[in-house]
Amino acid sequence: MTDAASTSHPRLTDRPAWQALAAHHRQVRDLHLRQLFADDPQRGERLTAEGAGLYLDYSKNRVTDETIKLLLQLADECGLAARIDAMFRGQQINASEQRAVLHVALRADASERIEVDGVDVVPEVHAVLDHMATFSASVRSGRWLGYTGRAIRNVINIGIGGSDLGPVMAYEALRHYSRRDMTFRFISNVDGTDFEEATRDLDPEETLFIICSKTFATLETLTNAHTARAWSLRKLKDERAVQRHFVAISTNSEGVAKFGIDTANMFGFWDWVGGRYSMDSAVGLSTMLAIGAENFRAMLSGFHAMDRHFRSTPFDQNLPVLMGLLAVWNNNFLGAQTVAVLPYEHYLKRFPAYLQQLTMESNGKHVTLDGVPVDVPTGPVYWGEPGTNGQHSFYQLIHQGTRLVPCDFIGFCQPLNPLGRHHDLLLANLFAQTEALAFGKTAQQLEAEGTPSWLVPHRTCEGNRPTNTVLAQRLTPETLGQLVALYEHSVLTQGVIWHIDSFDQWGVELGKVLAQRIIPELECTDEPKLGHDSSTNALIRRYRRLREG
Ligand code: F6P
Repeated sequence: MTDAASTSHPRLTDRPAWQALAAHHRQVRDLHLRQLFADDPQRGERLTAEGAGLYLDYSKNRVTDETIKLLLQLADECGLAARIDAMFRGQQINASEQRAVLHVALRADASERIEVDGVDVVPEVHAVLDHMATFSASVRSGRWLGYTGRAIRNVINIGIGGSDLGPVMAYEALRHYSRRDMTFRFISNVDGTDFEEATRDLDPEETLFIICSKTFATLETLTNAHTARAWSLRKLKDERAVQRHFVAISTNSEGVAKFGIDTANMFGFWDWVGGRYSMDSAVGLSTMLAIGAENFRAMLSGFHAMDRHFRSTPFDQNLPVLMGLLAVWNNNFLGAQTVAVLPYEHYLKRFPAYLQQLTMESNGKHVTLDGVPVDVPTGPVYWGEPGTNGQHSFYQLIHQGTRLVPCDFIGFCQPLNPLGRHHDLLLANLFAQTEALAFGKTAQQLEAEGTPSWLVPHRTCEGNRPTNTVLAQRLTPETLGQLVALYEHSVLTQGVIWHIDSFDQWGVELGKVLAQRIIPELECTDEPKLGHDSSTNALIRRYRRLREG
């Protein structure tokens, strides 16, 4: 047994609240949402919470007041309040990497003080924001000129994972607020297609690349960055052009300088910002270039409003805490293995993909903070698509399949593009889906409608499918910040209950190491001596044989 394993942290399943929840689940597992709503006509207004600009209706979850009481008791027993406090105080809650976790400092007011190792980081955060704002203003105004004296019209962010998903999602989400006379693109994949398609119609003289990599060591990003450099220089023909067409976002100034980027045009961040929690740091430079500094700051204020809500609101009214605890209930007691995120807002089409990294890289963990195997399943699989499109694709399985898929529905009361009846139709569908999923359609109802008896089983919808509905007034930079922070803190809440490190990602390392071993085996001209398993060896040999055409 390791030292870590011998620590006295109780097993989750031994906690009194967990055991009470297990006993409670046995009593309520057959309860139907139809019954719960019939018994309490106020349920749809009671089981709701509102804060930081968002309204959460969690009444269509399979919970009773007792369930919520026990989940809140579990949060207390697991020390959630102390853990939240530790995060905001800059303690090293990312234990396996021995780092503070301070994305909340990225949106702190300039008047706040947040220390890491005795140093207040808030002034540094604001200095970088100011630097970003000055740079963005000069690019957006046409004052920043490319090497041949032309203004920048195209911005391409090169990054992957947290250095891509946040920027892409935010750009798509806030497109309504973006400069329509500029082109914004994102290259992440080491697949050359991504680079080719992103650049084929662009002129290097008018194109600015943002090389976005916390480590400045990621294979995909550096490969694409070097390809971009060659693409630019093919036309610009002078190494000095790199300084006018490349800027960097990184914590690694040495790597940036080595690449040839002027470190005066490097926008820094810190090792206490995890990649998947970084879209509101300098990683958001492409967002700021698209929407302007004022809108970017409005987004930060949305994040900050949710941070304050999370830190100071009693747990029974605290949106991220409630969402996190409900996720634990659905995952561990109802046995749901996935969560579908269904934004009824087309601009949020990349939000589910963004949440996949945020939730799964954070909570896809198999050992506790003490290094011992977890005793319950941890992070569920997140996926989703915007409504109403998903309705005509995978919703069938959610309505009538054999798996339980809790869903988060996200909607906005005011459209950004009012167009005839469109928005009412969109929202009618959102409300109808949560209603159908909760209440279904019984055999009796179908028979009463005259459905032929052979068809009744096919048309019956059991209902009792849990959903959350998050409503906001309008998709703005501010609401986007609120929404992202809502999920960030829900992820933390779940991680605290499971007693895991939600801020490391060791699992992705093995594949990277093995790829480094295989690269020379693909690139060498002589037949390589392969020492893998027979499947990997055969695949490599076959690829080498067939790639020549
Ligand atoms: O491979 C996973 C990961 O480390 C993510 O956590 C991170 O967001 C991504 O790679 C990109 O890393 P970087 O910003 O250092 O290039």
